[in-house]
Amino acid sequence: MTARIIDGNALSARVRDEIAQRAAALTARGVQPCLAVILVGGDAASAVYVRNKVAGCEKAGIRSLRFDYPANATQEEVMAKLADLNADPAVHGILVQLPLPKHLDETQVLETIDVTKDVDGFHAENVGRLSQGLEAFIPCTPHGVMKMLESAEVPVQGAEAVIIGRSNIVGKPMAMLLTNAGATVTVCHSKTRDLASHTRRADILVAAIGKPRFVTADMVKPGATVIDVGINRLQDGPDAGKLCGDVDFEAVKAVAAAITPVPGGVGPMTITMLLENTVISAARVAR
Ligand code: GUN
Repeated sequence: MTARIIDGNALSARVRDEIAQRAAALTARGVQPCLAVILVGGDAASAVYVRNKVAGCEKAGIRSLRFDYPANATQEEVMAKLADLNADPAVHGILVQLPLPKHLDETQVLETIDVTKDVDGFHAENVGRLSQGLEAFIPCTPHGVMKMLESAEVPVQGAEAVIIGRSNIVGKPMAMLLTNAGATVTVCHSKTRDLASHTRRADILVAAIGKPRFVTADMVKPGATVIDVGINRLQDGPDAGKLCGDVDFEAVKAVAAAITPVPGGVGPMTITMLLENTVISAARVAR
């Protein structure tokens, strides 16, 4: 068997066309969607993500405001900026790129963002609403994964879904979304005993660990759908410098029925869902 490739670039392009049309219609009514992005410190990967988010906004006709702080920025500085952005009616979405430098209180930062502008969906109120299946801003990466499963017509209801990774950004919201959609969900993590015994049962396997090529072919059930959330830069070996996912793509694609590549899989969908959340937020103001 060789797996069908679920193409995140192609799906993203289609969804972003629709988003651009919605943004243009809102702009014509005098409400141009606007996303504010805060980056603290010089983490190289975060800087790339932020640049891609800002570029995605521009292409979709969404205004973006970018605020860069040095790694030694104080909690007070970041909180003061958030207060300004919360109060600014022209700003519809606020995003603080994670991770923050260790000396900053991430929870306090995330809880300060106005819930109605929390386009990342990390505020506890949005997390709670999602857990109850209520309308909420849905975290962008797991939301993008759900869109990919839907577009590839992967049955979710009744499926065994196994997630590797329990982060607040991916693993936990992914578990809620798959549960809400009727899957039977197992969340595995670094302390899980006999990980492969879980992953081998999965009809849908989501890898969000941050370890290059961690998921090998023997961990995958034949015919499974494998979603690779990892974005890792290989440090050594013949492919040093290249991007790769958490899944050993070449080996696993011989076992799985469908698989997402890295790059060109989940990554572009994450940004697409951020743009969609920003347009949704602006549309509420324009009502
Ligand atoms: N860091 C890694 N992923 C994300 C994300 O989706 N949003 C933010 N704000 N930071 C991240």
